[in-house]
Amino acid sequence: MKETAILVVNDLKTWFPIKSGLLQRTKNYVKAVDGISFSVHKGETFGLVGESGSGKTTAARSILRLIEPTAGEMYFDGTSVTKANRRELRELRRRMQIIFQDPYASLDGRQTVNSMLRETMKIHRMASNRSEAHERAARMLQIVGLSEDHLYRFPHEFSGGQRQRIAVARVLTVNPEFVILDEPTSFLDVSVQAKVLNLLNELQDKLDLTYLFISHNLAVVHHMSDRVGVMYLGKIVELADKNAVYHSPKHPYTFHLMAAIPLPDPEAQREEVLLKGDVPSPVDIPPGCRFRPRCPYATDRCLKEEPPLYEENGHSVACHYVINFERGEVKSER
Ligand SMILES: Nc1ncnc2c1ncn2[C@@H]1O[C@H](COP(=O)(O)OP(=O)(O)OP(=O)(O)O)[C@@H](O)[C@H]1O
Ligand SMILES: [Mg+2]
Repeated sequence: MKETAILVVNDLKTWFPIKSGLLQRTKNYVKAVDGISFSVHKGETFGLVGESGSGKTTAARSILRLIEPTAGEMYFDGTSVTKANRRELRELRRRMQIIFQDPYASLDGRQTVNSMLRETMKIHRMASNRSEAHERAARMLQIVGLSEDHLYRFPHEFSGGQRQRIAVARVLTVNPEFVILDEPTSFLDVSVQAKVLNLLNELQDKLDLTYLFISHNLAVVHHMSDRVGVMYLGKIVELADKNAVYHSPKHPYTFHLMAAIPLPDPEAQREEVLLKGDVPSPVDIPPGCRFRPRCPYATDRCLKEEPPLYEENGHSVACHYVINFERGEVKSER
């Protein structure tokens, strides 16, 4: 099957200026997203995984231009998102949607579900009259497992899981093609999480959606995604099919992350890898390879030369070395 890229992200950077002093001069930058490139194929779920602060949410918001990126280019279905004019951007903002982590913050407590859904439809002129709007709102609630009489209730009358379903229904009212899910279940109880994730999977099939799925939870990303990008300090350090990333990682950071997930097979032995030090601040990104200060395999070359994303058979890795993790040794250079 030939894959068509619906979203292309090319060397995206989003830096937040740090201003100080009387004149509020820019003294430095928080390099939250520091040059990431990837594409999302039509119909797939692309997972973005990384520790807190690695830049996942900033990347998501930049792709939708909810934050203005510092540099880079994005294309959605062939249209430049970065250069879109007002009219194009408005249409892109219908076709590309986002679900946030916190359903308590993202739903307005003073509005009924009906008026929230209607408002969203109105912005994008999704219905030509009242009864059409009502019918569409009711249908979307049903599709997410709620019912028509929930339309006249307020957010506080719902549980966390139900709120997230409402947030999904609202997004669906405008008939999007691509949805960014930014930790959509991390505010929910574990038992509810699985139900919402399964709903998202069903909706993807039913409505031909493409997802960018973001989470720091490795198991959840594995469950949801087709391909996965691993973020470390504003960069994607590894990108491949999910099974390749989880079962044969190439980057020492990914290897370390994967070694930390509990294995289903209790007999399986895995060496505990401890990384030295903490994640550096995105204000002070180490020169060369940004993982170098914590990497057990780092050499002089890693200090001098920032590794690009080397690609081989659809598996990309930002590391100069081919490493045999089982033996703890470098096999060759790239
Ligand atoms: N508006 C902002 N101004 C300044 N710095 C910011 C801003 N938003 C985010 N940051 C910083 O950018 C870095 C990346 O943050 P971001 O929220 O994108 O990470 P994340 O991977 O989504 O983390 P989490 O898993 O906690 O949601 C962090 O160091 C954060 O403090
Ligand atoms: Mg985040």
